[in-house]
Amino acid sequence: DAQRVFDDIDRHFQLSKETLVELTQAFIDEYRLGLGSYGKPMAMIPTFVTGVPDGTETGTFLALDLGGTNLRVCEVVLNGDKTFSLRQQKYKVSEELKTGEATALFDYLADSVDAFLTENTPSEPIPPMRVPTMPMPGSQDVVHLGLTFSFPVEQTALGAGKILTWTKGFAAKNAIGHDVVQLLQDAFDRKHLHVKCVALVNDTVGALLSRAYTAGGCILGAIFGTGTNGAFVEQVANITKLGNSDAAAKGGLMVVNTEWGAFNNSRSHLPSTPFDNALDRRSINPRFQAFEKFVSGMYLGEIARNIIMALIDAAPKPLLLSGKFTPLLNTQWGLDTSVMSDIENAWEGEKRTEPSPEDHMPPFTEFESKLSENVKARLQRVRKTMVQRLGYEDEDVTLRDAAIVKWACGLVARRAALLSGVAVAATLIQTGRASLPAGHDNITSSEGAEDEEKIGVGVDGSLIEHYPHFERMMRESLKILVGEHIEKRVDIGMAKDGSGVGAALCALMASKEMQ
Ligand code: BG6
Ligand code: GLC
Repeated sequence: DAQRVFDDIDRHFQLSKETLVELTQAFIDEYRLGLGSYGKPMAMIPTFVTGVPDGTETGTFLALDLGGTNLRVCEVVLNGDKTFSLRQQKYKVSEELKTGEATALFDYLADSVDAFLTENTPSEPIPPMRVPTMPMPGSQDVVHLGLTFSFPVEQTALGAGKILTWTKGFAAKNAIGHDVVQLLQDAFDRKHLHVKCVALVNDTVGALLSRAYTAGGCILGAIFGTGTNGAFVEQVANITKLGNSDAAAKGGLMVVNTEWGAFNNSRSHLPSTPFDNALDRRSINPRFQAFEKFVSGMYLGEIARNIIMALIDAAPKPLLLSGKFTPLLNTQWGLDTSVMSDIENAWEGEKRTEPSPEDHMPPFTEFESKLSENVKARLQRVRKTMVQRLGYEDEDVTLRDAAIVKWACGLVARRAALLSGVAVAATLIQTGRASLPAGHDNITSSEGAEDEEKIGVGVDGSLIEHYPHFERMMRESLKILVGEHIEKRVDIGMAKDGSGVGAALCALMASKEMQ
């Protein structure tokens, strides 16, 4: 019967403690595999960033940021007292540019930098780059730029690296295997811009560096946005694939870009449902970026849409919205993750911040007779959001429909957040800060934890910033996996504008190396 269908779906999205532990163990196994050899799905990329800043760094830099919701060009001023200021311009990258020829994409990047430099003349009568300048033919100063490129790149130095693969819906031709800094530099040169790309960072590395700059310490930078990924500070001795290289000989620490979005591409451990499989099959990169497809903002809306459509299509009788769909819902990617977050916010209302049992309300078959006035009011708001954001007529949506849609969004988002906690836990364990529960619950008292040294984690991305309670839910699995005592010490902070600041810090390091 109908209730069984709902219960089955609900069950498929739950993660038991055993599953969470197994996933974390598998995550660490893939970390170690990637640290040991090149060419593994979880690429564990050595970044050649060998230290984290302490907030005293100074300089003015230009940064270009590709791979999140927006393309951004920023001018960053590091004040040297843990603060910075930033001016930025956002640009959209069209679907044609994402999937066309790479030269067209990189020409667009160069044009955006050109437009920024033209439109944003610096407030002071000096060139935007105060610190490092280099003479060029024609004797004009050259502006040094740090590139935040949020895709997998096998780095060979701070300012060089080959694109390994595209992710997040990008598929520009003739880019894979090419040096991304060179592709950008060629575009600057084609346009005769006096700009030199000196450093390359992933957005996770940017988040890590900028959090370290503003907070004085950080071990992990993580993005929960369009995509998901993390970078952490590792002992060079553990990056055994560096072999006999100079970097290995130097020892010490190095930031590693994990590319954890590719965790468990075989899906042997990830709790795939038919809704996930349908998403993957129709995606631009089937069988790749498995973890990212469970966790990140580009995909959550589509998983929820798949559940909703299955219930609309149910036979012999539709189980949702009397079988009515809208053109938007009937389109692949038609349900944006921001719609889910609007629905959750509508349910929340303005005042409530604590979770309540109502949040897990299963969609009863005989429904409306059992609702309290409070729940009715909350569902009314959800209903309105569905009308506004999904293109339904007011009379098409009942309170029961609203409850089912809210429940579907909650299932998908909660699973994503719990899985995000797995990634954080795996990193704490890999860096020797925690261990998995051995058979029993990881019950440790949290007493005194807050007085002990904090474990800094810098985060960025639309999901962690805007999705209601994402961090709280992420901490739920983290607590199960590493124990309350450690979880309490984990200091998760937004690395706002992290990519710009991180790229600037990297440009600074690179410029110092060049002097
Ligand atoms: C932005 C950063 O703040 O966040 C980007 O500047 C990063 O570099 C992005 O990729 C991640 O979030 P989203 O949600 O835009 O993918
Ligand atoms: C994707 C990219 C990765 C990036 C992440 C977050 O997973 O492959 O490089 O860090 O998205 O933007």
